[in-house]
Amino acid sequence: MTQETTTVIRQDATNQRKVFIKTYGCQMNVYDSERMGEALAADGYQPTEVIEDADLILLNTCHIREKAAEKVYSALGRYRDLKTARAKEGRETLIGVAGCVAQAEGEEILRRAPDVSVVIGPQTYHRLPEALRRAKTGERVVDTEYAVEDKFDYLPKKERGVRPKNVSAFLTVQEGCDKFCTFCVVPYTRGAEISRSRKQIVDEAKRLAENGVREITLLGQNVNAWHGEGPDGAEWGLGELLFDLARVDGIDRLRYTTSHPRDMDERLMAAHRELPELMPYLHLPVQAGSDRILKAMNRRHTAAEYLALIERIRAARPDIAMSGDFIVGFPGETEEDFQATLDLVEQVRYAQAFSFKYSPRPGTPGAELGDQVPEAEKADRLQRLQALLSRHQLEFAQSRIGMEMDILLEKPGRNPGQLVGRSPWLQSVVIDAGDAVVGDMVRVRITDASANSLAAVRLD
Ligand code: 5AD
Ligand code: SF4
Repeated sequence: MTQETTTVIRQDATNQRKVFIKTYGCQMNVYDSERMGEALAADGYQPTEVIEDADLILLNTCHIREKAAEKVYSALGRYRDLKTARAKEGRETLIGVAGCVAQAEGEEILRRAPDVSVVIGPQTYHRLPEALRRAKTGERVVDTEYAVEDKFDYLPKKERGVRPKNVSAFLTVQEGCDKFCTFCVVPYTRGAEISRSRKQIVDEAKRLAENGVREITLLGQNVNAWHGEGPDGAEWGLGELLFDLARVDGIDRLRYTTSHPRDMDERLMAAHRELPELMPYLHLPVQAGSDRILKAMNRRHTAAEYLALIERIRAARPDIAMSGDFIVGFPGETEEDFQATLDLVEQVRYAQAFSFKYSPRPGTPGAELGDQVPEAEKADRLQRLQALLSRHQLEFAQSRIGMEMDILLEKPGRNPGQLVGRSPWLQSVVIDAGDAVVGDMVRVRITDASANSLAAVRLD
């Protein structure tokens, strides 16, 4: 689930300074980039999509696989010439690296990229304006501590949701991970599991709703491990939180990602069973289908346990669509192990899935294991797995043809008069909008389907 996005925070600022933010990686980085953009807007930085105009170039980075991390260094190499060209015109350019590469590599970034003046980790980005002030005086700043204060208390609140197109928003409820899957850097880059307080989350949801947001996706590296104190002092889990958020006026749709199979409790099942606001789509990574590999990955469940869990989820919400993540070529994975992954995929039939070649990450136990799978083998398995996953994704999309459903309109389509909305199952749906506008929920019938988008006609 990686992507590259440019975060644009619209804000009327009179100050001349401009920031260009490039985001790599997961949705939490997208959320973090928006928060950083807002912190910078409050500090007088205007957003720009034109990198040549930027006084500050900020990369929000991803460390999950080697490729993601290397992209950062090649981007930094490219910015070098830009910085020199601007310097010739008498304009200073600051370059900052934020996110998980910043956290993992810290000082090393300053050594490898001499033009970088600020390195700031995911837990300290509320201190970005201060770091930039120091950088302006020529200092090179590295701030990758796990801050004692709560960053969310220090970020501007009023700007959230100012973008009119924001009918769907992310809301981070939990960060970090204590699961220590042996392939994964997250417990090292994002740190131990912490949950934001129920009050902070509900307040943020209300602010979003007041700004026209109708759909919220709760984010966490291990979102269903969220826990907090309810108003009655009782310990709440994510299920209870979802019941609470469904009561927020104006919020019509709720989603959450990413979950761990071990943390799907009864109350969360109840939320899927009882809450019409909770959309019938669940991203529940399994990574592999062989028990031997699952054990080596320290996933702490078997393939049978995962399949039994999906059966219970489907009993609670029969129309739920499953999504997952897979890794092929974990150390020691044989052809037989890989077949077990294909078998599991056949049984679950994912509506959507993300799959990757195993990438050994420095500092993780997996990287130390012998029996690494040759690159060509990994590539071959990935291709076979993706062929199967794509077939299922297309079949799922086609199974929507003829169905009537509500879609939430999010943005203009490619052709004039078209708008693109989301189905309950997270698919893009293109319609001729008529009098409907972005932010409307409209009733449609699906007329056509490809793997990545649906076409529909309005019914109301
Ligand atoms: N190599 C390949 N894929 C990985 N992921 C996490 N760590 C690695 C790694 N070292 C994948 C997992 C995870 C997703 C976000 O990225 O499938 O669920
Ligand atoms: Fe990484 Fe496993 Fe934690 Fe997910 S549950 S963030 S894969 S360690």
